[in-house]
Amino acid sequence: MIDPSFAKQWERYRARANQQLEQVLSGLPTGENEKLASAICYSTLNGGKRFRAMLVYASGECFGASPQSLDAPAVSLELIHAYSLVHDDLPAMDDDDLRRGRPSCHIEFDEATAILAGDALQSLAFEVLSDGSDHPDTSQRLQMVKQLAVASGLSGMAGGQSLDIIATGRTLDQSALQTVHEQKTGALIRAALRLGALAAPTITPQELSKIDEYGRLIGLAFQVVDDILDQTQSSKQLGKQSGADAAMAKNTYPALMGLENAQQYADQLVQSAQQSLGKIGRDTDFLHQLAQFTRFRDH
Ligand code: IPE
Ligand code: IPE
Ligand code: MG
Ligand code: MG
Ligand code: MG
Repeated sequence: MIDPSFAKQWERYRARANQQLEQVLSGLPTGENEKLASAICYSTLNGGKRFRAMLVYASGECFGASPQSLDAPAVSLELIHAYSLVHDDLPAMDDDDLRRGRPSCHIEFDEATAILAGDALQSLAFEVLSDGSDHPDTSQRLQMVKQLAVASGLSGMAGGQSLDIIATGRTLDQSALQTVHEQKTGALIRAALRLGALAAPTITPQELSKIDEYGRLIGLAFQVVDDILDQTQSSKQLGKQSGADAAMAKNTYPALMGLENAQQYADQLVQSAQQSLGKIGRDTDFLHQLAQFTRFRDH
């Protein structure tokens, strides 16, 4: 049963993220290259839960940041995430034709355009995040840029995606699979919470370390649940091809430990994440429920 106040807050953040993304993308100089601009918009303004933007807003507001100061980090996280999905679907990676209920970017356009749309989305994320108009504190902004760069790169999302591809068809042990999941998916989720917290006027090192621990745990849980949903939901429900992991012999938690154990493991991760919130002396209700959402989402 979803708490009505959670649903309302969720909708507020989701609408804000969509509106901010639309504003940034409507400012693109489309006349320069209409095809690439269309592919960028197609891959971003196409639904999506906006979970990473939501984490930026939730973490930032929890520590007293204004919503305005959180718009740029929220948008930049969603742009990097959109880029990661466009590249994830390419034939050289997961070779998926369906994304967010529509043909994947390389199907709707072509492979070269999808590669370049991903590249341009990544650049745009850093252009937005480095812009000082909403967030005038230069040193805070620079820290955010650095953290997003690290979370997107070799030891974050891109590195995790590479480990995922290298391991496909071979069996990883649990510790190696945890590293893949923490990097390919967890790193951006963790960064979303950190960027929100960094926008706050004040935050103690203890609070930052607790929100970071929460981020690590729900980041891992989010991908464990993604693996579970791939096995248990229909393509229609997910808006992407279900059963794709088994078809490609991907390393997933259900494949490693069985569906029920994977479900229990996700429960444990979410519980631990919620426990780390208990040590933050602020209003963490919404973050508490977001952890719950990570586990019980159906797409
Ligand atoms: C899907 O992420 C890819 C993963 C990293 C698991 P989401 O489930 O957040 O996808 P959208 O943004 O809602 O489409
Ligand atoms: C995605 O993992 C991780 C990314 C960095 C995009 P998956 O390959 O499982 O994501 P889906 O299931 O295609 O959305
Ligand atoms: Mg993948
Ligand atoms: Mg995939
Ligand atoms: Mg998946």
